[in-house]
Amino acid sequence: MANQTIVKMPGDGIGRVVLDEAIRVLDAAGFKADYVEGDIGWEFWCKEGNPLPQRTIDLIEKHKVGLFGAITSKPKDEAFNELAPELREKGLVYSSPIVGLRQHFGLDICLRPCRSYKGNPLNFIRRGPNNTIEEPMVDVAIFRQNTEGLYGGVEWSNPPAQVYDSLMTHPKFKKNFGHVPVEEISVSTRIFTKKATDRILRAAFEHAKKYGYHSVTVCEKPNVIRETSGMMYKMAQQIQKADFPDIQLWNTNIDAQMMWLTKNPETYSVIVAGNMFGDIVSDGFAGLIGGLGFACSAQINPEKGIGVFEPTHGSAPKYADYPESIVNPIAMIESACMMLDFIDEQEIASKVRKAVAEVIEEGKIRTYDMMKMTGRADVIEKGAASSHEMANAIIAKL
Ligand code: NAI
Ligand code: MG
Repeated sequence: MANQTIVKMPGDGIGRVVLDEAIRVLDAAGFKADYVEGDIGWEFWCKEGNPLPQRTIDLIEKHKVGLFGAITSKPKDEAFNELAPELREKGLVYSSPIVGLRQHFGLDICLRPCRSYKGNPLNFIRRGPNNTIEEPMVDVAIFRQNTEGLYGGVEWSNPPAQVYDSLMTHPKFKKNFGHVPVEEISVSTRIFTKKATDRILRAAFEHAKKYGYHSVTVCEKPNVIRETSGMMYKMAQQIQKADFPDIQLWNTNIDAQMMWLTKNPETYSVIVAGNMFGDIVSDGFAGLIGGLGFACSAQINPEKGIGVFEPTHGSAPKYADYPESIVNPIAMIESACMMLDFIDEQEIASKVRKAVAEVIEEGKIRTYDMMKMTGRADVIEKGAASSHEMANAIIAKL
């Protein structure tokens, strides 16, 4: 059988470092694949005026599976100033290529698992009864709607007359904002569709069923955001009743959920939310299991069989040019394991995950973040492992 082809997209900054280390681990674990490189990120914005060239889209369309490092985004003015001089008069506008990828391929199912590793010094601890210290083991799978909601991009400042006039037909708008001059108004919409809401809810329930989780929690704010959050919760009730009666359906408000993070995070298993609340709650849980060095993600379009897998961290430009990279490659390696799950290579995925768990538990090799150091080039002299050494330690356990 021909090898699977993977589109590797290093992107910017530390993206290439962590991606190269993850691929070394995959090779060592016996995963046979061909890799083609997809251009993406700041470099291509500056050189070509497009951070997501069509050739990269074509590669993903063809091969269906992508491993993504991280990209750099900068504000509008800087984006313009760094554009190649011959492109400056073309009226190009920078937009994030990873958001572009999600929307182009309808990668609307975003899964961000947060599982504590035994022995990780960054695990959340709390005070228990009689001054004991408790270390609750977190094991949640967060399903974030990845294409709509507040990140859907439908927004205006000083909205055009048609939009303003429509808004004025809403009694609450008229009462609360009708007296404000239109040029002082900015509007960002939060659009949920039934189709996408159904897809993310079903993905969450299916996951709970497949992996034996007892509950699915809708984490929104239906008591206040009645139409969108309300629709999501109501649909969840219907889906649970009709198709997943053995799985409990819980309902939490995003604000209360953030407080409960530190109170009883071990209570939750599968969490499902819209785009923005999913982003927030997944960062919150990631903080309990070690932060950005450990937070991995999958973005999938199940119908098209397309998946792009990436750590949730960014390109950390301040560490990008160190002669020896200090960043933690585990988030990228775990994202690569999610890719292996997606293409039915679970055996290799388990092998890699076990090796990662062993290295963390043993505690001999730790990157700077795991040693609670401030990231600087000299952390390696002070005993922190480099990105390369961390990957080597994982490879040695395979
Ligand atoms: P960042 O995630 O790049 O870095 C924040 C801090 O987290 C870093 O200073 C570092 O201390 C730590 N960190 C990140 N990755 C780490 C790792 N693997 N190991 C250890 N520590 C790690 O976010 P920041 O600084 O807000 O953004 C930098 C650039 O990345 C920006 O241009 C931003 O737009 C972009 N970005 C891209 C994302 C993506 O590609 N999906 C996501 C988030 C930000
Ligand atoms: Mg985020």
